[in-house]
Amino acid sequence: MVGDRNQNAYAAARIVRHYAQLGALQPAEQTVLDLLHDRLPGMKMLDIGVGGGRTTKHFAAIVADYTGIDYSTAMIAACKKRFAASSQTALFEVCDARDLSRFQDDSFDFILFSFNGIDYVSHADRLKVFQEVCRVGRPGGYFCFSSHNLQGLEREFDFRKRLDLNPLKIYVDLVMLALLRLFNPSTTLKQLNASAHVVVKDESHNFCLQTYYVRPSEQLSQLNANFSDVNVYAWKSGLNVTAERELVSNVDLWLYYLCVID
Ligand SMILES: C[S@@+](CC[C@H](N)C(=O)[O-])C[C@H]1O[C@@H](n2cnc3c(N)ncnc32)[C@H](O)[C@@H]1O
Repeated sequence: MVGDRNQNAYAAARIVRHYAQLGALQPAEQTVLDLLHDRLPGMKMLDIGVGGGRTTKHFAAIVADYTGIDYSTAMIAACKKRFAASSQTALFEVCDARDLSRFQDDSFDFILFSFNGIDYVSHADRLKVFQEVCRVGRPGGYFCFSSHNLQGLEREFDFRKRLDLNPLKIYVDLVMLALLRLFNPSTTLKQLNASAHVVVKDESHNFCLQTYYVRPSEQLSQLNANFSDVNVYAWKSGLNVTAERELVSNVDLWLYYLCVID
């Protein structure tokens, strides 16, 4: 099962240590923080898949009330340790995004599932997470998450799109492509081109995670049932890429989606 293997990986001490030392916001997260900055002081925030608390550092001191959850007990223990001496009031709980039943309807004004955390559950569970987020989120509140971009993966798989003048870069790209194909023997470029979403093992954490990649147009369709006013941001530049023409050709490896909860 996609979700079970990933959950075990996120319990591993080496992976927990990695996330517990991260501190910087990604450019797209900074864009979202700047956009909501004036409203955050009045908001109750749920930080799903909080990992080692990278985003806690930036949001807990600003919002009215902050809860970080993760299905990895080891990640939550790392957060409690990291913020034990902090003056920021942050609550951390072990909880799976697929079952937020401990939270009442309309509990949060801002829900974050950052750094592609939602990509580590199956397709059916992903849709369940969107429903749960909508249920515990207040109508008119915000949901922000990031997800791997299938168009970026197509580019990784297609060596012709990565030709470069730098021989070292060509060599590194060739090695990465060989590893991608080795760890995903049944995945072809033709199959990627014909798919709206796929699960592959990519280089993150040495190919041990099964990761969901989605075409941006498909992601927007998945959000239709529960969210509106969706804006998309490139993770690296933090720039808005909502124009449809830009979105269908975007090859960023992951994108941030900021939506209003219905
Ligand atoms: C890529 S890490 C990001 C951690 C942190 N948000 C950060 O940005 O540094 C993804 C996190 O999501 C958590 N996660 C994945 N699926 C989850 C689920 N169904 N429920 C709760 N947490 C989940 C993992 O345990 C992991 O800590």
